[in-house]
Amino acid sequence: MWTTPRRNLQVLDTLVLLGLVLVLINVNGVESRTVRILDSFGYPVTGCSRKYSASLADFGGVGDGVSSNTKAFQAAIDNLSQYASDGGSLLFVPPGKWLTGSFNLTSHFTLYLHKDATLLASQDESEWAVIDPLPSYGRGRDAVGGRYISLIFGTNLTDVVVTGDNGTIHGQGTTWWDKFHKGELKYTRPYLIEIMYSDQVQISSLTLMDSPSWNVHPIYSSNVVVQGLTIVAPVTSPNTDGINPDSCTNTRIEDCYIVSGDDCVAVKSGWDEYGIKFAMPTKQLVIRRLTCISPFSAVIALGSEMSGGIEDVRAEDITGINSESAVRIKTAVGRGNYVKDIYVRGMTMKTMKMVFWMAGNYGSHPDNDYDPNAIPVIQNINFRDVVAENVTMAARLEGIPGHPFTGICISNATIGLTKKPKKIQWNCTEIAGVSSDVTPPPCNLLTDQGPANACDFPEDSFPSVKL
Ligand SMILES: *[C@@H]1O[C@H](CO)[C@@H](O)[C@H](O)[C@H]1NC(C)=O
Ligand SMILES: *[C@@H]1O[C@H](CO)[C@@H](O)[C@H](O)[C@H]1NC(C)=O
Ligand SMILES: *[C@@H]1O[C@H](CO)[C@@H](O)[C@H](O)[C@H]1NC(C)=O
Ligand SMILES: *[C@@H]1O[C@H](CO)[C@@H](O)[C@H](O)[C@H]1NC(C)=O
Ligand SMILES: *[C@@H]1O[C@H](CO)[C@@H](O)[C@H](O)[C@H]1NC(C)=O
Ligand SMILES: *[C@@H]1O[C@H](CO)[C@@H](O)[C@H](O)[C@H]1NC(C)=O
Ligand SMILES: *[C@@H]1O[C@H](CO)[C@@H](O)[C@H](O)[C@H]1NC(C)=O
Repeated sequence: MWTTPRRNLQVLDTLVLLGLVLVLINVNGVESRTVRILDSFGYPVTGCSRKYSASLADFGGVGDGVSSNTKAFQAAIDNLSQYASDGGSLLFVPPGKWLTGSFNLTSHFTLYLHKDATLLASQDESEWAVIDPLPSYGRGRDAVGGRYISLIFGTNLTDVVVTGDNGTIHGQGTTWWDKFHKGELKYTRPYLIEIMYSDQVQISSLTLMDSPSWNVHPIYSSNVVVQGLTIVAPVTSPNTDGINPDSCTNTRIEDCYIVSGDDCVAVKSGWDEYGIKFAMPTKQLVIRRLTCISPFSAVIALGSEMSGGIEDVRAEDITGINSESAVRIKTAVGRGNYVKDIYVRGMTMKTMKMVFWMAGNYGSHPDNDYDPNAIPVIQNINFRDVVAENVTMAARLEGIPGHPFTGICISNATIGLTKKPKKIQWNCTEIAGVSSDVTPPPCNLLTDQGPANACDFPEDSFPSVKL
């Protein structure tokens, strides 16, 4: 049945049943009512106060796992977009399995998934528009040219929230991975959620499974919160990065649990000459309370695409289990710009190939037009309070010949080794820095400062994310 989106007073009963409560607020003496999502499992959900709400079922949606809901989603959001300047709106996805192709979000809008709602990403390529490559990448990541739009896509938005009571977004990635391995895809695979050129973005309290490629990709955006996500994909699936903040300012990633076939968090800012030209760094990024399992990739990667620069990153309370490396800096000649002012405090790790890994030989260029004189500068990289066990090799720290990585600091790090560790635990070339209280003893290029010389971690509070 098709109905009008309602003022929420009329749907009080439904909303209470759905776990929502009505709050009365007073705006300029005029009584108005807003929907507020109960904070049901410890993640404060902000940005969920919306004046209007509707259910996907009102727009002809069918949650049978078979019918396509692409049109219903787009019709619902197009309709609700009329309330952007009048208190905003919320689209509720009820329990059920909602097969859908890609749809676009709008401003002052919340997409809210019930805990028993699952969005199933369509495996039919015709349900996915092909859009231009990202200007800071110059081409698709899988193939030259365009790329399939993301399942949930938004561009040029203000105040947009994708959340739920731990509802599920299932990417049904297997067919995409097969086609990718067989080289059958004409365009770059879609991501699950991509938000571009937007301000005040929240993605929270959801489970994301089996993405065709990256899971969450905020790009060219500011004031981004990613919170309380469970992201799961087979550890051998191709490029299923968890969260990729890309050319974003003021981002907070917290309380996420990620098992993936690629880096759990990959911080990026564009690729070689395209990223240098676009010139938009990722800066003021906080990552905390992250748990990652990724046997063939990093817990947190900086790069390899970092050509707009990456600066002022703070990571705290990081847990890595069965992962290749903890924090990894990947870069290459041709990337240009910098990775600087990186502060990591409190990492607990078990079963790691390497704890520290940074190298300037990543290679991988968009085309042959990259500038061989564009040398990335890697500077002021700090790690402290690290405990790791069952590690094969403590560190590979390999700068660019003639252009060393400098200002590396490692303090209070205790690294326990596997039964069959590498003979050389620290391989350091073209780097400079200091160390304090590190076991096994680091390479001589990390000058020992004596005990109790902690690396920096700024104590001033970070610019808070405005939502
Ligand atoms: C969309 O909104 C308008 C009110 O502006 C309403 O008349 C119409 O019925 C709505 N469509 C649906 C399917 O709810
Ligand atoms: C969503 O937005 C993209 C980019 O602006 C556009 O190419 C695509 O057609 C839109 N999709 C729909 C269903 O309107
Ligand atoms: C979105 O914003 C960008 C950057 O401001 C601008 O270049 C682009 O034209 C905008 N796109 C749309 C569809 O408004
Ligand atoms: C969300 O669901 C996933 C998958 O079922 C589960 O592992 C996770 O613990 C849940 N998260 C919360 C916060 O309830
Ligand atoms: C060293 O690191 C451990 C583990 O994070 C922490 O418990 C301890 O307080 C740190 N010691 C100092 C002196 O900061
Ligand atoms: C230690 O790491 C090795 C791989 O190096 C792994 O096979 C083994 O299961 C790990 N042991 C424990 C106790 O986790
Ligand atoms: C150490 O790193 C250098 C530079 O990448 C490499 O050439 C060398 O083979 C490495 N040595 C060991 C023992 O891993």
